[in-house]
Amino acid sequence: MAHRHTTVIFILAAKTILLVSAQLRPEDYRLPELYTPSSYEIALDLAAEAFTASSNEFSGTVTIRFSFINITDYIALHSQHNFITISKITFNSTEVLSGNYSINNVTDILTINVGHAITTGITYDLVIEYTGVLSTGDMYGLYKSSYVDSNGLTKYLVTTQFAATFARRAFPCFDEPALKTTFDFSVTFPTGLNVLFNTQQYSSVSNATTGESALLWDQNESSNRYQQRVVTVVAHELAHQWFGNLITFKWWSEIFLNEGFATYFEFHITHEVLPAWELDKQFVIEEVHQALLGDALENAHALQSPTTTPAEISSKFSIISYSKGGSVLRMVEHFMRLDNFRAGLQRYLNQL
Ligand SMILES: *[C@@H]1O[C@H](CO)[C@@H](O)[C@H](O)[C@H]1NC(C)=O
Ligand SMILES: *[C@@H]1O[C@H](CO)[C@@H](O)[C@H](O)[C@H]1NC(C)=O
Ligand SMILES: *[C@@H]1O[C@H](CO)[C@@H](O)[C@H](O)[C@H]1NC(C)=O
Ligand SMILES: *[C@@H]1O[C@H](CO)[C@@H](O)[C@H](O)[C@H]1NC(C)=O
Ligand SMILES: *[C@@H]1O[C@H](CO)[C@@H](O)[C@H](O)[C@H]1NC(C)=O
Ligand SMILES: *[C@@H]1O[C@H](CO)[C@@H](O)[C@H](O)[C@H]1NC(C)=O
Repeated sequence: MAHRHTTVIFILAAKTILLVSAQLRPEDYRLPELYTPSSYEIALDLAAEAFTASSNEFSGTVTIRFSFINITDYIALHSQHNFITISKITFNSTEVLSGNYSINNVTDILTINVGHAITTGITYDLVIEYTGVLSTGDMYGLYKSSYVDSNGLTKYLVTTQFAATFARRAFPCFDEPALKTTFDFSVTFPTGLNVLFNTQQYSSVSNATTGESALLWDQNESSNRYQQRVVTVVAHELAHQWFGNLITFKWWSEIFLNEGFATYFEFHITHEVLPAWELDKQFVIEEVHQALLGDALENAHALQSPTTTPAEISSKFSIISYSKGGSVLRMVEHFMRLDNFRAGLQRYLNQL
C-alpha cells in the first residue's frame, strides 16, 4: 500500500433522488448558517478488489474541523445515502450513538444531535467513518470506469467529479460553495497503481482530467474543428482556476459568473495565443447566436434565478449560464473597452 498527501482549496459542490413526496420548502435543502469549517482530512481506502469487476466498495474516514457561529445542539451537513453508509460518528472525542443522527434521503442532509454544551469560537472535530460505493452508472462523485488495454485486458480507474453537488457521494461534508475550505487528502491504494491530483503539489493541466474525448487529439487523424475543440476545452477549464476556484460565488444561482467567464476566456484567451483561428469572431456564431436561440425558449431562465434542489442546480449548467453569461460579459468588455475591463477583472480577482 502507498500513500499520497496533498493540501488544496476545496470547493464542495450531488445527486437527485425523490423517494418520498413530503412537502419540502426550498430552505430545507440549505444548510443553516451555523458552521464555519476550517479544514477537512479525508482518508480513502481503495482495496485491490475495487479495481476489478467484483467490487465497487471503498471505505473512508473524514475529519471535519469547524466552529459554530451560534449556539445550537446539532450539526447539519451533507451525505448521500445511496453511496455512503456511516459506521461511526465521533464528535469532540465522544461517540454519537446511531439513534442521534439521521440522513434525509431527499435533501441529502445528515443531522447529528450532539447535546447542549456547544460553545462558539472553539474548533471542534467531527470524525465520520463510513463505507462507500463507487458510482458505475454515471460520472459523478467518486466514480469507476474502465478501458481495454492493448493486450485485451480490462483496466479500471477511479476518478472524482464533485461539482456541483456530488462531493457528498464521496464523503460527508458541508457541500455548499460558501463553505469552501482547505483539505488534506490521502488515498490508500494497491501497489502498481498511480494517483494523480490536479492541485498545486501535483499541479497542471497534464494531470487534470476532463472528458477523454476532449483530449485525444491525433495530428494525422483529427479534424481542425476537433483541434479547436481540444484547445478551447482546455482554456475553459483553466479559466476556472480563477473564475470558480479562486473566486467562488456564494450560491448556485450565480453559476453564470463561473461559466460565463470561462466561456468568454475559452475564446478570447485562445484568440490571444492563436489569433489566426479568429476565435474572437467565432464567438459570435458559437455563443452569441446560441444564447439568443436558448433565450427565445419559453423555459429560459434568467442569468440569476432561484435555485435550490440538486436538480435545479444541475439545470443551471445551461446555455443561458454559459453562452448568455459569456455574451453579456463580452458586451461589458465592449462598452467598457478592453483595458478597463481587464483592470476591473484584476481588481475583482485581487480583492480576495
Ligand atoms: C445566529 O445568531 C444571530 C444573533 O443572535 C441571529 O441573528 C441569527 O439569526 C442566528 N442564525 C441562525 C442560523 O440561527
Ligand atoms: C433512506 O434510504 C435508506 C436506504 O435506502 C433507508 O434505509 C432509509 O429508511 C431511508 N430513510 C428515510 C428517512 O427515508
Ligand atoms: C443521544 O444523545 C444524548 C446526549 O446528548 C444521550 O443522552 C442519548 O442517550 C443519545 N441517544 C441515543 C439513542 O444515542
Ligand atoms: C468537549 O469535550 C470536553 C472535554 O471532554 C468537554 O469538557 C466539553 O463539554 C465537550 N463539549 C461538547 C460540546 O460536547
Ligand atoms: C503531473 O504533472 C506535472 C507537470 O507536468 C508533472 O511534473 C508530475 O510529475 C505529474 N504527476 C504525476 C503523478 O504524474
Ligand atoms: C503522422 O503521419 C506522419 C507521416 O505519415 C508519420 O511520420 C507520423 O508518425 C504520424 N503521427 C502519428 C501520431 O501517427
